Order: sequence, then structure tokens, then C-alpha cells
Amino acid sequence: MKRIVMLASGRGSNFQAVASAIARGMINGRCVGLIVDRRETLAAVRAEEFGIPVFTIDYSGFSTKGEYEEEVISTLRSLAPDLVVLAGYMKILGSSIIREYAGRIINIHPSLLPSFPGLDAQGQALAYGVKISGCTVHFVDEGTDSGPVILQRAVPVLDDDDPGSLAERILLEEHIALPEAVSLFCEDRLHILGRAVIRLDSDLHKERSRSA
Ligand code: GRF
Repeated sequence: MKRIVMLASGRGSNFQAVASAIARGMINGRCVGLIVDRRETLAAVRAEEFGIPVFTIDYSGFSTKGEYEEEVISTLRSLAPDLVVLAGYMKILGSSIIREYAGRIINIHPSLLPSFPGLDAQGQALAYGVKISGCTVHFVDEGTDSGPVILQRAVPVLDDDDPGSLAERILLEEHIALPEAVSLFCEDRLHILGRAVIRLDSDLHKERSRSA
């Protein structure tokens, strides 16, 4: 069973979607900790309800980004995760963390990447006038929302959408996509091949594990 650590900055609805999927036995893993970057997040309240330990590493309490990152990395090391999930985590992780956990950090982003990376993805989609948007779960590399794509789910963009209504429609898909990606990772069914993530067939995978 894989050890999962999640990072969040606020509301934590994606955290909750993964924690619920774990509680329902749909993921071959357990969440050994939630790291939040500020005090009084709804994500932390939700984690407590699931009995998941919360580690508050308050960004404002550090004088440099480097010191903050050192604390994050030492907390991660102490939790020995197989998988790190960024679930609405609003800081960009430093290269040292990304290199240490290469191929083991995933992020959820509210657009169909490579369109509209970075902040306010829904606002960017509306400003551009696209008719379809959605969400992307991807492995994290050193760029902004630029790592290999694990899966995507699409939604229509309606004529009368504003960033809030589009965000709500996308969020429903995020809550399906993120637990699914975590589940695939925890079954060792994701294989990174250059920019592509190959999803191993479950039967093929079982066969390979049997013959290994
Ligand atoms: C989500 O839209 C996620 O894609 C983005 O930030 C939002 C976080 O929502 N990175 P929540 O905290 O999971 O409710």
C-alpha cells in the first residue's frame, strides 16, 4: 500500500475527494499527512475529520523561500511518501523537492494543458473564448504546469459563464480525475515515456507482476 502525502493551500475539496476515495477502499494507498502552507485552511479541518495528520508550515513565518522549502522537504522526508499530491497547493515547488521526488509528484490544474497554465486558468479560458475547457492531472516537472499529462476531463464553456461558474463545472471533474490518477499511480499503472504517460492495462499489469 502506497504512502501518500498531500499538499493544499485552501478549501481542500480535491484533498477531500482523494481522502474519501481512500476511505471507500478505491485507492491502494493511505494518506499519511497533509501539508498546508498557512493557518486555518478548510483543507486542514477536512483532514482532521479523516484523522489524517496535518503539518502546518506557515509560509509567512519564514524569511526566505529557501528556508520554507527546507522545512517542507524535511517534513516530506519524515513522512517517506511514495506519492506527493498537490491538491490546490498554490506555491511553486523548488527544484530540489521536484528532483528528489521526480516522477512521484502529481498536480491538478483547472484547464486542458498546455492551454492556460499558471494562475486564473478559468479566467484565461474565458478571455481566450474557448468553447471547451476542463482539468488536467499531470506529473510535476520544473516548469509551471508543464509536466507529462496523466489524464484530462473536458467540460463545455457556456456563453453566459463567468470564472466562478466555469470553475464550479471544472471542479466537479477534478474530483473525479484526481482520485482516478492517484489510484492508477498506486497500482503502478502509470509509466512515463518521454512526455507521454502510458496507462498500463490492468490485466497486462497483473500478468507482468505475476511473471516478475
Ligand atoms: C482547484 O481548482 C485546483 O485545480 C487548483 O486550485 C483549486 C483548488 O481547489 N489548483 P480545492 O482547494 O481543492 O477545493
